[in-house]
Amino acid sequence: MHTVGYRMNAVLTLGVTILALICAMASLADNLNLPSPSAHVQVLNINWFQKQPNGNDEVSLTLNVSADLQSMFTWNTKQVFVFLAAEYETPQNALNQVSLWDSILPSKEHAKFLIHTTNKYRFTDQESNLRGKEFNLTLHWHVMPKTGKMFADKIVMTGYNLPQEYR
Ligand SMILES: *[C@@H]1O[C@H](CO)[C@@H](O)[C@H](O)[C@H]1NC(C)=O
Ligand SMILES: *[C@@H]1O[C@H](CO)[C@@H](O)[C@H](O)[C@H]1NC(C)=O
Repeated sequence: MHTVGYRMNAVLTLGVTILALICAMASLADNLNLPSPSAHVQVLNINWFQKQPNGNDEVSLTLNVSADLQSMFTWNTKQVFVFLAAEYETPQNALNQVSLWDSILPSKEHAKFLIHTTNKYRFTDQESNLRGKEFNLTLHWHVMPKTGKMFADKIVMTGYNLPQEYR
């Protein structure tokens, strides 16, 4: 009895040790994976640009978004949430962030994409701040792992401008 119990304990201990080793190696492999994301966004067209009856500026854009986030996917990645935001300064706020488009990338195969779209969410400013506004387009992503902590990163693309006149 004593011996069997001892041996089972030894087998269990060995199993746990091997598991721990595999986890450590996998986690190391995760850290060794050097990510190399890329993104490129073109504003193909300003479809319209108006002051709404409520006084807010609103613009409709057609965007050409290409990105490669395949290197964000590892053995431990469940999915990646990605969104494109217009970011700009106003007298009221140092950072205004308007989400224009988003998507969930369920697998590595979906992480390299080229999308031709109008903004999915409204690009509007509470004041009349958008005329002639310089803005950045930032591709943000949140990597949701199977185990462990979520992490986020982004690529900032600079130098976009809205027209001076409504159209
Ligand atoms: C959209 O971007 C891709 C990749 O940058 C490019 O090959 C394609 O010609 C662009 N489409 C338009 C309509 O400009
Ligand atoms: C755009 O991004 C650059 C670099 O991060 C930053 O210095 C600049 O202030 C941003 N411009 C706007 C209009 O937010």
